[in-house]
Amino acid sequence: MCGIIGYVGDKDSAPIVMAGLRRLEYRGYDSAGIAVISKGRLQRRRSVGKVELLSKMLEEEPLKGNVGIGHTRWATHGKPSQDNAHPHTDCGGKIVVVHNGIIENYIEIRERLQAEGHKFSSETDTEVIAHLVEHHLKRLGSGGKALSDVTEPLFFEAVRQTVREMEGAYAVGILWEGCPGTIIGARKQSPLVVGAGQGENFLASDVSAFLERTRKVLFLDDGDIVLLNASGIKLFNVDGKKREISYTNVQWDQTMAEKGGYKHFMLKEIHEQPTAVEDTLRGALLPLDDKTMKAEFGFDSEFVKKIEKIQIVACGTAYHAGMVGEYVIEHFSGIPVHVDLASEFRYREAPVRKNTLLIAISQSGETADTLAAVRENKKNGGVHTLAICNVVGSSLTREAQSTFHTRCGPEIGVASTKAFVGQLTALFVLALHLGVARGRLSADEGLKYAHELLKLPQFMRDALKLDGDIKAMAERLAQRGHYLFLGRNANYPIALEGALKLKEISYLHAEGFAGGEMKHGPIAIIDEGMPVLGIAVKSQILDKMLSNLQEAKARGAHVVAIVSQSKHKLKGDIDAELAIPVTDEYFSPALTVIPLQLFAYYVAAARGCDIDKPRNLAKSVTVE
Ligand code: M6R
Repeated sequence: MCGIIGYVGDKDSAPIVMAGLRRLEYRGYDSAGIAVISKGRLQRRRSVGKVELLSKMLEEEPLKGNVGIGHTRWATHGKPSQDNAHPHTDCGGKIVVVHNGIIENYIEIRERLQAEGHKFSSETDTEVIAHLVEHHLKRLGSGGKALSDVTEPLFFEAVRQTVREMEGAYAVGILWEGCPGTIIGARKQSPLVVGAGQGENFLASDVSAFLERTRKVLFLDDGDIVLLNASGIKLFNVDGKKREISYTNVQWDQTMAEKGGYKHFMLKEIHEQPTAVEDTLRGALLPLDDKTMKAEFGFDSEFVKKIEKIQIVACGTAYHAGMVGEYVIEHFSGIPVHVDLASEFRYREAPVRKNTLLIAISQSGETADTLAAVRENKKNGGVHTLAICNVVGSSLTREAQSTFHTRCGPEIGVASTKAFVGQLTALFVLALHLGVARGRLSADEGLKYAHELLKLPQFMRDALKLDGDIKAMAERLAQRGHYLFLGRNANYPIALEGALKLKEISYLHAEGFAGGEMKHGPIAIIDEGMPVLGIAVKSQILDKMLSNLQEAKARGAHVVAIVSQSKHKLKGDIDAELAIPVTDEYFSPALTVIPLQLFAYYVAAARGCDIDKPRNLAKSVTVE
């Protein structure tokens, strides 16, 4: 996820901004940049790669001045490159902007501004903000005032008008040469905080960026616009009304601050999942309240009509997402789907059919087996490869003909959580897209399901409220040696994923099965008190799943059921239930996985495991 740091005060800003950027490195990034008002002129330095490279650039071409902003970028629009790195400027280079989030209507704004003569130099959505501020400054200043006379209130008004036009999510920091002692920040749905120091103030995406200089923090709310100068902080809402400022004295240490107050990155990332889905949907279904469902997958409707088979390849958690994809795509589009572990597919000599769409799913885009499977498919004359990937510019996105980017932000915990729900979201959207394009769903039905998808983030937030109950349950069950996870239909892969999560971070023996398979062998391992976690949410085959859980209970299992927040017939036959909101059966995996992730996390925590860095595992498996 991108990082923002801004400084205004009596010190030289560049070293302080650079220290802030180093503190933000943990968030993951692909390029970095800084802008400083130096001798009245805005100047910036940007580089691809590590903050250290930017630092070297500054040694060669230093920037001096008391006001500066910096950014670490994690690409969402446009590849990682110097041109796409923040800060971005307007036409004259007098306004600079750093931004986290996604401007949904940036294409429309850019086209409008281009028609007015604005020249753009990047592929980003962010650049429109600088040009829009420029546009409003000109407009507001044209009433008889020369631009050089325009001061803080007009800078504020230009930014206020700008953010009113922006749809989507943003946390921004803006500097303007015409008002050299002021930084303006604004937020909607992306975090932004202000640090109040002695004769100096800070703007940042999280407190870790300035914690070593001040602990007095103002957490901005959606719609806030804040003005910072060396002597003070002013807060307004988007209607221009002044707001009271209430500071919090943050007690976190640096590591806690990086984890947003959570004990581990994994827990933080579990709780970030609603936002990850929201952002992925925002990128996919633009604009969110559109009357028609659009989604870009990089192939035309003629190709969609010809697809005879979809082949999915992936590893680990991404493979489980692919398995859910098989159920969902077949259900909504009727196209036959085959899912393979990439490590098997690459050696399997699977016959390539003419009109096969290959989908490679990977968080990192660097997994050796997944890349090899894609290359193998190409070599054998495969038709179109679609990557579903979280890292812009990764090897997989370069190998594939087209990419759907999940927008989950960097995932730091080795155990994949938010990237998984991002992958599910991509597959849900793809399934609806294919369903409508193939005529199995009408446009209205497609839209109806798209609106159901848009409810998922809130449902996920509701499911996360189970955190405390699951912690208590996990602590009670943490000392058992073996665990079973059961699911059916689109939730069968979630049973596998629940077991994988537990294995990875707690080193306990866990297995996932399709409920109907139990009597074909696995039921033999159930003994008194063995934890069996079953997914029994609203489904056409719920009764069958309930019977599978009753069979386990009858053999002495300790049954925990994940159920829909509605009546079910299991009362008395289970030991505990975890109720989650009701959604379409085929979208439910994005919800049912949450209690299982939390269960794995709290079992591992109770056993004192190294959760973010489990033994024997690496975040990205770049070797075979
Ligand atoms: O980066 P990728 O999604 O390609 O990684 C695939 C697997 O290595 C990954 O999902 C792994 O299974 C995780 N540790 C699961 O939590």
